[in-house]
Amino acid sequence: MSGHGNPIPMTARRSGPLTGVAEVPGDKSISHRALILGALAVGETEVTGLLEGQDVLDTAKAMRAFGATVTRHGDGHWTVAGVGVGGFAEPADVIDCGNSGTGVRLIMGAMATSPLTATFTGDASLRKRPMGRVTDPLALFGAQAYGRSQGRLPMTVVGAADPVPVTYRTPVPSAQVKSAVLLAGLNAPGETVVIEKEATRDHSERMLRGFGAAVEVEDTAEGRLIRLTGQPELRPQRVAVPRDPSSAAFPVCAALIVPGSDIRVPGVSQNPTRNGLYTTLVEMGADIVFENPREEGGEPVADLVVRHSSLRGVEVPPGRAASMIDEYPVLAAVAAFAEGRTVMRGVKELRVKESDRIDAMARGLEACGVTVEEDEDTLIVHGLGADGVPGGATCATHLDHRIAMSFLVLGLAARAPVTVDDGSPIDTSFPVFETLMAGLGAPVARD
Ligand code: S3P
Repeated sequence: MSGHGNPIPMTARRSGPLTGVAEVPGDKSISHRALILGALAVGETEVTGLLEGQDVLDTAKAMRAFGATVTRHGDGHWTVAGVGVGGFAEPADVIDCGNSGTGVRLIMGAMATSPLTATFTGDASLRKRPMGRVTDPLALFGAQAYGRSQGRLPMTVVGAADPVPVTYRTPVPSAQVKSAVLLAGLNAPGETVVIEKEATRDHSERMLRGFGAAVEVEDTAEGRLIRLTGQPELRPQRVAVPRDPSSAAFPVCAALIVPGSDIRVPGVSQNPTRNGLYTTLVEMGADIVFENPREEGGEPVADLVVRHSSLRGVEVPPGRAASMIDEYPVLAAVAAFAEGRTVMRGVKELRVKESDRIDAMARGLEACGVTVEEDEDTLIVHGLGADGVPGGATCATHLDHRIAMSFLVLGLAARAPVTVDDGSPIDTSFPVFETLMAGLGAPVARD
């Protein structure tokens, strides 16, 4: 879906204590990868706990267009009959990745070393986002890309007929770029190497190994070095998708700021390349207990018990940014209820997400009566304490699910209700957000 339907305004009101169990959906990053690697394996991959958000559904549709058989059997239970590395067919139509940067960038990587042509597009948000960060390294393999100015979608990628392997230093900390290069490397002969200065989420490396690819990871003076041996035969897998720590962040943060709350969030991924928000919240004084640490589907997970807490502002170390890049919006919302300033530096990547998230949070927080400071690479929120946030505003979400959910969380503890102009993008990553929050007792509703 390259457009959105009518906007859905939603409002959150000051809430009584949140209680109960929040079973958040499957991890979005892992869900995309399970479908794509399933499509590149020989045989049938079974996925349970798949996130059935629009972003992932768009990737499922894309994998069908490239020749895989993708079947839904029940809630989160899917199979993918793959075509093998190098086995993609040329899609008969434009691939519409909707709102999903991860979907489009990973799929471009996966097809870039096969002799076929595909044209990609997306919604108004995705069509603003930079694709050059992916098409630059894909060109080194021999692929060509023709898009709009500044590397924007719609874009046609002509895959390399005789791909060569690549060694690539990622210029921006991006798991999407790293993953696109690794997926392209699958159908190149020899060894493809990615070097990233700061470690980003490592689901691709973990899952590629699970599917039988030779992937070696080494921490070096230059950063993390990942080596992939090309042209493996990928073996189909059973993938159990853990719950998404980025989605869990919303009920967790709501419980922290709503007085009297006490909730349980079971089975949340604790992958160290994803858990920066939780480290930060604990530093702020959050009462979060991590129970039953265990391994599920190749990822560390734990059950979280979260209680309302008095929070203090902190300086988030810039080196932590990659491990919590999607969580800065909700951290900014929570920081409004802390005592003192919360300083977020080294966050300029937020400007090229589903929206310019520094700008979207700064404008919405100001409208809610919170003082912020920002520059290109920084967001500072001046906390007003547990009961000090006025609220009473309508915040613009700019087709960004995480901006919408962050302001709805803020509204649960603000003095006056907070409205978001459009909650429809929440479907991309957290389709059960409204019912899950209602189940905890949180008054979040469509207007
Ligand atoms: C993702 C990587 C991150 C993140 C996105 C999911 C992934 O993007 O923001 O939501 O699954 O690889 P970048 O790689 O652009 O940082």
